[in-house]
Amino acid sequence: MSTNDSNNSAYNDFHLQFIAGEWQKGKDDSTNTNTNPYNGDTLVEIQQATKDQLNEAYDAATQAQEAWAKQTPATRAAVLYKVVNILDQRQEEIVDWLIKESGSTRIKAMVEFGATRAITLEAATFPNRVHGEIRPSNTPGKENFIYREPIGVVAVISPWNFPLHLTQRSIAPALALGNAVVLKPASDTPVTGGLLLAKVFEEAGLPKGLLNVVVGSGSEIGDAIVEHKAPSLVSFTGSTSVGKHIGELANGGEYIKQVALELGGNSPFVVLKDADIEQAVKAAAFGKFLHQGQICIAINRVIVEDEIYDDFVARFLAHVKTLNVGDPNKQDTAVGPIINEKQVKSLKEKIAKAQEEGAKMILSGEIEGQVVPPHIFTEVTREMDLSRNEVFGPLVGIIRAKDEDDALSIANDSMYGLSSAVFTADMQKGLRFARGIRAGMTHINDISVNDESNTPFGGEKNSGIGRFNGEWVLEEFTRTHWISMQNEPREYPF
Ligand code: TAP
Repeated sequence: MSTNDSNNSAYNDFHLQFIAGEWQKGKDDSTNTNTNPYNGDTLVEIQQATKDQLNEAYDAATQAQEAWAKQTPATRAAVLYKVVNILDQRQEEIVDWLIKESGSTRIKAMVEFGATRAITLEAATFPNRVHGEIRPSNTPGKENFIYREPIGVVAVISPWNFPLHLTQRSIAPALALGNAVVLKPASDTPVTGGLLLAKVFEEAGLPKGLLNVVVGSGSEIGDAIVEHKAPSLVSFTGSTSVGKHIGELANGGEYIKQVALELGGNSPFVVLKDADIEQAVKAAAFGKFLHQGQICIAINRVIVEDEIYDDFVARFLAHVKTLNVGDPNKQDTAVGPIINEKQVKSLKEKIAKAQEEGAKMILSGEIEGQVVPPHIFTEVTREMDLSRNEVFGPLVGIIRAKDEDDALSIANDSMYGLSSAVFTADMQKGLRFARGIRAGMTHINDISVNDESNTPFGGEKNSGIGRFNGEWVLEEFTRTHWISMQNEPREYPF
C-alpha cells in the first residue's frame, strides 16, 4: 500500500508557487530557505510570492469556483477519493517529507498521515451530505426553503506543527463543498503544509485555479490575504496572537468575512486518586511528548490529586527516562527536534523561568542543536509561567491538587479552552468532571491529543471560534440562504 510504483516517481520542483493551476516562480526578492530541523540540511529554496501573485491566485480562485460549484456531487467526491488513493500510493514519500521538513518522529508522521487520510475520506462524503430544509410559514401561501450553498473562496493559513493534516483539514472540506482555496502554508513547512498537497490534488485531476498555494512570509503577505475582497471565509490555524489579529482584520476592514480560528491551547491532564496510575503515566508521556510537545492539544499541565502525587511523579520520571531522544528518522525515537531556533530559545527561557519561580526540575538534559530532551518540573503552582502559558515543547509541570474540586478549579483556571483529559476508575465521576471543564474537548481515561474526522474539533475562550470535522465543518464552509416562495397573493396592511 505504501510504496511508489514505477508510474509514480517522487514529486519534485518544490521551489515553485502553485497559482492558477500553473507552477510558477515567486516574484518577490526574498527567498524561503527550507531546512531540516534535525541536521540543518537545506531541503529547497523558494522564491517568495508577491502581492500581485496573491491577487492572481484570488482571481483564479474566484473564476474557477463558479463552475466547480455547479459540478455534480459525484464529480467532486471522485476527486477527493482519488486524492485518498494517491495519498496511499505515496505514503512513504509523504512520511519522509514530514520527518525531514517538520522534524516529525516516524511515529508522529504516521499519526499525521492517518489523520490526513481520514479527513480526506470524510470530506469525500460531504458533496452528498450537504442538504437544505423546508420550514413552515406563518404567512398563508408561503413556503420557506433553506439552501446550503458553497461559501465561495476560502483563504487558508496553516501552521508548521501538523502541516499536512491541519492544511488538509481545511482544504479538503472546502473543495468538496464546492469552494475554491487560496492557501498560505507556514514558512517552516511550505512543502508538507501546501506544495505537496497541491501536487496530490493536481494529480487527482482537480480543475485549475481551485487550489492555489502562495508561499510567503505571514508578516509580509498575511494581512493582504485576509483583507482581500475575494475570500468569504478565512480559516486560520496557529497562535492566539496572530489569530486575534486576523479576527480584527476580518471584521474591522473594508470587507467583512467569516473566520474559523483554531488557536493555542493549555490542555489540563487530571489524574484523580482512584485512577490506574500506570496507565495514566503512559498516557501522560505520550500526550505530552508526541511531536516534542508541539501540538495545540498536547498536555500542557499535569494535575494530580495529593494522595497519589508522589507515586505518580516517581513512576512518570522513571518512564520518561526510558524515552529515546534524537534522530526523528529512527523507528523508536520518541522525541525529535524542535522546529526552529526561535522556538528552542523560547524553551530555554521557559526552563530558566520555571526554576526562578521555584519549580523543582527533576529531569533535564543537554540541548544539542535543536533537540531538547524532556524536562520535568514538580511542585508547580497554577500561578507559574509553565501553568499559565502554552509551552509548545517537551517541558512539563506537575501540579498538586488538594482534592477533586481543587483539580477542577485548577483545570479551568486558564484563558484557553481547547482540549483536556481526566483519569479515574469511576466513569460517572469522570463524566461529571469532564462536563465541568470549560473546553471544546475532554477525554476520559485518554490523552488530550485526539482528533477524529467525524467528531467536532475546536475550542472556546482564547482557543478560538468554530469547529472542524464532520457536519460541523460542513456548516462552517457553506453559507445558509433562506429563500421564500409566495404561492398566492399576500394581503398587505397598506
Ligand atoms: P503562528 O505564528 O500563528 O503561524 C501560523 C500561520 O500564520 C503561519 O502560516 C504564519 O506564517 C501565519 N502568520 C504569521 N503572521 C501572520 C499575519 N500577520 N497574518 C496572517 N498570517 C500570519 O503559529 P505557529 O508558530 O505556526 O504555531 C504555533 C501556534 O499555533 C501555537 O500557539 C499552537 O497552539 C497553535 N496551533 C493551534 C492549532 C489548533 S488546531 N488550535 C493547531 C496547530 C497550532 P509564517 O510561518 O510565514 O510566519
